Amino acid sequence: MEPSPQIGLFTALYTTRALRRLKPDPVPEAVLFQLLDAAIRAPSGRNAQDWRFVLVTDAAVKRQLQAWAAEGWARYQPRYAAEPALLEQLPRTPRLALKAVAWLVQHLAEVPVIIVVCGERGRHHTPGGSIFPAVQNLLLAARGLGLGASIFNLPLVRPEELAALLAIPASYEIYCLVPLGYPRDRHGPVRRKPVKHVAFWERWGQPWAFALAQPEEGWQARWLPATPQDSEG
Ligand SMILES: Cc1cc2nc3c(=O)[nH]c(=O)nc-3n(C[C@H](O)[C@H](O)[C@H](O)COP(=O)(O)O)c2cc1C
Repeated sequence: MEPSPQIGLFTALYTTRALRRLKPDPVPEAVLFQLLDAAIRAPSGRNAQDWRFVLVTDAAVKRQLQAWAAEGWARYQPRYAAEPALLEQLPRTPRLALKAVAWLVQHLAEVPVIIVVCGERGRHHTPGGSIFPAVQNLLLAARGLGLGASIFNLPLVRPEELAALLAIPASYEIYCLVPLGYPRDRHGPVRRKPVKHVAFWERWGQPWAFALAQPEEGWQARWLPATPQDSEG
């Protein structure tokens, strides 16, 4: 695959959001390889690199993952699973996010690729810390190549069955699933609690004066295209 012109790193950081509504169009293997080859540049404890990725494209397997996702949705969001119309009563931001989750629950089998991310069981004191840097690399690389992705763990409602289905050995555990494809919605901007609410100066609870003086939205506007993108979906 030829390298293509890329967006800047900070634009990627400020616009990589969970894109769950994906087109069924296949993702070329060269693109998948590029994403994984970028993902594995991440740091891991003692450079163990015990991440393993199972790329799932098989229709029957994806249908099973969708069935488990529906089970997870019914367990964790029983009100919305039983009565989807209730989603319409939510304020805009949670409404769009949860409707996108509901969409993926119903369409997971149509997504071209689902990447199942695993790590060696018991290898690290802070196990996720050695897996999720690679996952974030993967999400950013997907953003860079115009793909949409998100972390979507609802099928993990059945971890043992999922491991058996994919022949994942007992010495590995599943950290997350990343459905991936070409997005139906647009990237960014991402809304987060401002720095002043999550960062302290010198000791816990002590405000950081510089952060307090910054705009509520932070410095996101510096890195977005001139016409702000909407974050429908
Ligand atoms: C460990 C982890 C587990 C997650 N599990 C799910 C999940 O099961 N279903 C889902 O729809 N999103 C899941 N997410 C995605 C988050 O909901 C998403 O990153 C967050 O809402 C921010 O979305 P935004 O970047 O679009 O603002 C997970 C994220 C992480 C880091």
